[in-house]
Amino acid sequence: MKIIAGNWKMNGSRAALSEMVSALQVVETDNKVILCVPYTMLCIDSGRVALGAQDVSVHEKGAYTGEVSATMIAETGAKYVIVGHSERRQYHEETNSIVRQKAATALSAGLTPIICVGENMDEKQAGKTMAVIEAGVRESVPSDISGDIIIAYEPRWAIGAGLTPTEAEIAEAHKLIADTLDSMGLSGTPVLYGASVKAANAADIMSIPNVGGVLVGGASLKPDDFIPIITSVK
Ligand code: PGA
Repeated sequence: MKIIAGNWKMNGSRAALSEMVSALQVVETDNKVILCVPYTMLCIDSGRVALGAQDVSVHEKGAYTGEVSATMIAETGAKYVIVGHSERRQYHEETNSIVRQKAATALSAGLTPIICVGENMDEKQAGKTMAVIEAGVRESVPSDISGDIIIAYEPRWAIGAGLTPTEAEIAEAHKLIADTLDSMGLSGTPVLYGASVKAANAADIMSIPNVGGVLVGGASLKPDDFIPIITSVK
């Protein structure tokens, strides 16, 4: 069983999500399908597809105009929330420490955080890929875990760019993440790969050791693109 998570970013509509949910109802798969959508789309009946948000406030409630708490997300019936996506890290200056607080808040509301880590192009070119990934995991994962977490490895330079690392690079990153999680007492935590996943490369990527599934951006928006990714692996 693999986890196939879609990240709609700031795209779609409630109507488009309803269409996607209907299309997914008839797909035969044992894989776990999650759709992380804008807040305004969370309150729909999503059948067997689990819904998630794409960000959460570090605060529980109060005078934080525009923010949405983990409890509010959980109240919609959503089960997941992405934290520390590279676009949040890039455009909203989210650090590992902020991401850790967001993951902790999500866990305390009963949500499963999908914690994203990954290197940007400067870090890659400076040979810091492995150090950035390991620090991302050690510093973004809360120390007291009461519930499930998912890690997503997303090489930031490859997101939305049509670029993917080599299979050897993905394997090396996922091995490091699995070893780091082991050393933190979190063996067995699913680790997804994300960045330019599509039907043509999904099965190969998910056959790499320690890859527990994929986090899909652009190719999760339309059933014709997303369903072949879900059915590409058993
Ligand atoms: P992409 O996005 O699949 O469009 O590269 C992945 C992500 O940002 O989660």
